Amino acid sequence: MAECHVNTLKPGDPFRDWLVEEVMEHRVRDKNCCVKVFKNGSSSHTVCRYHFEGENFSVMAKFFAEPTGRLKNYNACKAMKNEFKKLELAASLINVARPLAINKEFNCALVTEHIPGKPLSWYFKSEKNLYEKLTGMSHMLRKLHDNTRSSYNKENEFKNYHGVLDHLTLDHSTRETFNRLLGECWYSDLLDRKHGCMIHRDVHPSNYIFYKGQPYALDFESSWFHANPVRDLGILSAELKNYFEQNKGGGGKAEPYIGHFLWEYSGGDEKNFMEITKVLPFYMSLGLLRSARLHHEVYQGYLVREAMACLKAIR
Ligand SMILES: Nc1ncnc2c1ncn2[C@@H]1O[C@H](COP(=O)(O)OP(=O)(O)O)[C@@H](O)[C@H]1O
Ligand SMILES: [Mg+2]
Repeated sequence: MAECHVNTLKPGDPFRDWLVEEVMEHRVRDKNCCVKVFKNGSSSHTVCRYHFEGENFSVMAKFFAEPTGRLKNYNACKAMKNEFKKLELAASLINVARPLAINKEFNCALVTEHIPGKPLSWYFKSEKNLYEKLTGMSHMLRKLHDNTRSSYNKENEFKNYHGVLDHLTLDHSTRETFNRLLGECWYSDLLDRKHGCMIHRDVHPSNYIFYKGQPYALDFESSWFHANPVRDLGILSAELKNYFEQNKGGGGKAEPYIGHFLWEYSGGDEKNFMEITKVLPFYMSLGLLRSARLHHEVYQGYLVREAMACLKAIR
């Protein structure tokens, strides 16, 4: 992602001093070093990289009290603590940007280790070893899901789907059709399962970075517990389809990648694969609607139609 140098902090700057003297106490050798600040160009909060001059590492800070996206009035302090806790839990299971500190005095800053590397979105674009990267993604998500088994909240899955629909201004008949199709899913056993688990939930390709061949997950702000694991798979599949539709001459060209990703996730077990692919259209449709919110009218119309077609294909 594009980042630009915006400042250089010298000793005496309160945030720099906190980073050097408290957060990175044992790692920064020269306590008088300057810290270069690089602002991340595309995020829903102010997110900056802090590079300690003369050292070969950086940290990232996400300022929850400075949202740049649509959500302006939410509890920044609560959101900061929530992401810190979820990152800590996930860090015990998979590779994540390790959480280092939080501080509400600095616009609710969450400091994490900086992961150098390329985001999954870079591999969508170049398709360089994309199959291999998706294998890495599938194993990471499987590990997160398998090791956080809990009870399952089916109601929440539907409540959230309706919430996503509420954010789109759909005409009455389109919304009614979605309501009917969702009602049919609700009364079928499609989404029934014994267990839920922790999911990442924001499976956007900018939220994963590959470092030394391994994926690292970022951005656990909207992660859920008691959730359906297929949701993470559906959102990533929708992101692939959406990206290929927009940039590679057709969403259909994403299908081999989606198939590979799901097959790897199911560990080559045919029964498991069938179970996942049965539920997948529900979450792919949700993923397409989630993206629809960010697009202009014509493309939004396409995504809404595709999302509806996914739901209709569930029988
Ligand atoms: N620890 C990190 N290492 C590397 N890049 C990061 C890290 N944290 C954030 N980023 C970069 O900043 C972007 C925005 O951060 P993120 O936590 O996803 O916030 P947002 O909620 O605004 O999406 C990410 O997509 C990534 O490019
Ligand atoms: Mg993000």
